[in-house]
Amino acid sequence: MTHTTTPSPLLEPARLGALDLPNRLVMAPLTRNRADADGVPGPLMATYYAQRATAGLIIAEATTPNAVGRTYPGTPAIHTAAQIAGWRRVTDAVRAAGGRMFLQLQHGGRVGHPDTSGLTPLAPSPVPLPETIHTPGGRRPAVVPRAMTADDVRATVTDFARAARSAVEAGFAGVEVHAANGHLLHQFIARGTNLRTDAYGGTVEGRVRFPVEVVRAVAEAIGPGRVGVRVSPGATFNGIEESASDEVYPALVAALARIGPVYLHHEFADPDRPPFRTLRAAWPGTLIANPALGAGAPPPDGGRAAGEALLQAGADLVSLGRAFLANPDLVERLRLGAPLNALRERHMMYVGGATGYTDYPTLAPARAGAVRGEGPVAGPGTTRH
Ligand SMILES: Cc1cc2nc3c(=O)[nH]c(=O)nc-3n(C[C@H](O)[C@H](O)[C@H](O)COP(=O)(O)O)c2cc1C
Repeated sequence: MTHTTTPSPLLEPARLGALDLPNRLVMAPLTRNRADADGVPGPLMATYYAQRATAGLIIAEATTPNAVGRTYPGTPAIHTAAQIAGWRRVTDAVRAAGGRMFLQLQHGGRVGHPDTSGLTPLAPSPVPLPETIHTPGGRRPAVVPRAMTADDVRATVTDFARAARSAVEAGFAGVEVHAANGHLLHQFIARGTNLRTDAYGGTVEGRVRFPVEVVRAVAEAIGPGRVGVRVSPGATFNGIEESASDEVYPALVAALARIGPVYLHHEFADPDRPPFRTLRAAWPGTLIANPALGAGAPPPDGGRAAGEALLQAGADLVSLGRAFLANPDLVERLRLGAPLNALRERHMMYVGGATGYTDYPTLAPARAGAVRGEGPVAGPGTTRH
């Protein structure tokens, strides 16, 4: 029998804190806007994540720890009993399918709108998002956020810690604190959005103070072994401005290392560029690297070659986003060297329902057998859209 499985270091098992991962592939957090108007995850979300349970680890999409931190319509939250119960159904489904799951905790900061949350967004400084923002009524100009007071800072730190406890109660193995992509924690880190003159702004130490306080409170709430942190050095999403020579990430990583979260998740990782090398050298724990695949459609291998290069350069785990979105059985496809489904871009965000969400096909059993060289192709096989 011909066997065409393709060995890859991505498919080797790994350990993450108390978790045994069957492979080194992590499903990156992906906002898909399928929660209800109250931020409650429903059965469709349980199906979607359970379909992807063969990932070494799933990091569930950005989920807000309080009402004011909500970004867009249809994003989930975890600060009410109904939201916790909704997430419990999701984690039960993933566990039943053999998977492991963290929850990403995200406060949008200035990336939010009163038409969505009913509240004026909070941010380090009253600097509006320089873009329109998606609301239930369509795209609207961003509003000027209210600068957080010392009380707001304390309350927000408490909300993150409470949300982390709720995530564990909902069955997650841990949480990922979102300090990337121009959301609240990143707004404190970056110069362009943090004009504060108090202890939470100005110097590098000041700008990392709030993210570090959030991570410390979350780690104290559920234990550092259940906490990851996501950063995106150099990213310009959501109007973020960071200078290339900024010392802020080495300082942030050094402060985080003293708290000891179980992983650091580096978005847009390039093994040949300084952020990756600097972070790898500075971070003593597990490093999850999300390859910088460039603008435009992901490569036909979904990021496999880029991921393998990152492991070679010292990453421990590799996260992929769009490849998991379009391929519920991504791990099996990579193992077999099978072709990947094409991404249906227009279904990624701001649309509800199953289309482009839970209807991406897996390899039909007969087709999988054929890829393995065990028999003829029969049935629908791999569909491209
Ligand atoms: C539809 C979509 C939603 C996303 N939502 C999130 C999110 O909720 N949190 C986050 O940190 N990153 C988010 N990202 C970024 C992804 O996690 C990932 O870093 C990015 O897609 C690059 O990885 P890829 O090239 O493998 O897709 C999102 C990306 C896409 C395409």
